[in-house]
Amino acid sequence: MVLARRIPLYQKASDFSVETSDETPLQAAGLIIRLLQNQPMKTKICAVINADNVKDALNDMKKAESADLTELRLDYIKNINESKVKELMKNKKQKIIITCRPINFGGLFRGSEKERLALLSRAIELGADFVDAEFGSEITNELTENKKGSKIIISHHDFKETPSLEKLESVYNQISQLNPNSVKIITTANSINDNFIIFDLLKGKNNLIAFCMGAEGEISRILAPKFGSRLAYCSLDKEKESAPGQINLEEMKNLYHNNLINKETNVIGIIGEFAENSMSKYMHNPNFVKNNVNFVYVPFKVAKNELKDFMENFRKFNFKGAAVTIPHKENIIKLIDELDETAEQIGATNTLVNDNGKIKGYNTDYYGAVYALKEQAEIKGNKILVLGAGGAARAVVYGLKREGAKLTLVNRTDGKAEKLANEFKVGFDEFSNVSKLVKENDIIINTTSVGMYPKENDSVLDGKDLFKGKIVMDIVYKPVNTKLIRMAKKKGCKTVTGDRMLIYQAVRQFELWTKINPGFKDMEKEMNKNI
Ligand code: ATR
Repeated sequence: MVLARRIPLYQKASDFSVETSDETPLQAAGLIIRLLQNQPMKTKICAVINADNVKDALNDMKKAESADLTELRLDYIKNINESKVKELMKNKKQKIIITCRPINFGGLFRGSEKERLALLSRAIELGADFVDAEFGSEITNELTENKKGSKIIISHHDFKETPSLEKLESVYNQISQLNPNSVKIITTANSINDNFIIFDLLKGKNNLIAFCMGAEGEISRILAPKFGSRLAYCSLDKEKESAPGQINLEEMKNLYHNNLINKETNVIGIIGEFAENSMSKYMHNPNFVKNNVNFVYVPFKVAKNELKDFMENFRKFNFKGAAVTIPHKENIIKLIDELDETAEQIGATNTLVNDNGKIKGYNTDYYGAVYALKEQAEIKGNKILVLGAGGAARAVVYGLKREGAKLTLVNRTDGKAEKLANEFKVGFDEFSNVSKLVKENDIIINTTSVGMYPKENDSVLDGKDLFKGKIVMDIVYKPVNTKLIRMAKKKGCKTVTGDRMLIYQAVRQFELWTKINPGFKDMEKEMNKNI
């Protein structure tokens, strides 16, 4: 009793508090040392169970055993009652958070607060390790006072936005006054830049769980261990995501290797408007682990108008590097410090390296295009028709010209092809002549985004324009078999798919970031597992 009265006073007077009731004395000492060294606590992976009946929930609890703990959402279970809670708790094999979110706090529970309190109190009696109680709900105080052996997480969700850091700090302070074991603050990311507010919020706090919901909030979940959120929530599998942007357990463990991420992890990401579609994460992440380097590769979903702020955050948080894709390969140049000679000549960069605060841009696309094509054809002296005149075309034209190809450029907007051709001193023609041009050239390369997911049934060329004997290359790799490639194969042409270029250029990127050559075969192997 005396201690209970003193604890709030101790907390008020202290700079830090460390939650150790769950740890052995040695672990507790480790936590204190880490705190003194200003290192975040080890983040635990929590799999969310949101089945709508007890049988499925029990199955899911089994599947979730490879997570560090599970959150059981009672509000998802139809007609939940105390006997169902008992049956679930009887089968618990690992640490569990019990949550019963009411409708007005974004959950599905429609009963009264009294009923909700009875269910959660029953879970406490039955040994729930944690109970999640909503900040501002009338039963939260009662749960905190009668928590017995359970720990209380007091949570605050913002389903609309990520407010300012000051506002979130104030929410954190208000919740802290209620004496929970952990504070949970979840917001919605409307932009990738919202994640950085959460990373700032996590600084210096060891009892906070925080991340952003939404597809734009993905990095706050993946990087939770780097910035010190106590828990990283994930779904059990793709179909069972209880919150948008939630990553599944398999990805968290085996793709992002969340258990290996720590404060020192070097963050690499792909900066693109549709970064979530990128396949490169499947190549880089496993090879980082294989080569024993502390790196992670994540999607940076950045729209055009978010790029400037994003790059400021990229610098502030000292991210190590990036791949750059549509539509930023040219625009990003003015936001970095230096370009290597090749990127300078191409006028586009697809790879950034942050060397102690100095960001340098490289271009590995040209290299990828050249080596992918070399698998099927001699480049020197061959006549090559390049379709498109955007950033990707610039890299392809640069690379092929350097190898001694005879190039002709065409583009939907003729003037752009003419301009590019003049710049690189190669041939150009009008798009209306494309059928004739295909006949005259040995190799045809699509550098436009036509045919890319989700517009898989588009093609920049007509099937009737293709003939046996031609070599057709597409730089689009999602899908690998684009409509252009499918039509070319049908006509008996040799084909070069976009994944080949992607792998070759990724090998170079890996080397630029880590100074280690991962080996083409190892990158190819990981890519092939996922296409
Ligand atoms: P990237 O950096 O991937 O090259 P980009 O610079 O926006 O992207 O260039 C896109 C290229 O695809 C351009 O050549 C574009 O043609 P326009 O210059 O006429 O815009 C081409 N492109 C995009 N959609 C197209 C379509 N539906 N048909 C033909 N070409 C298309």
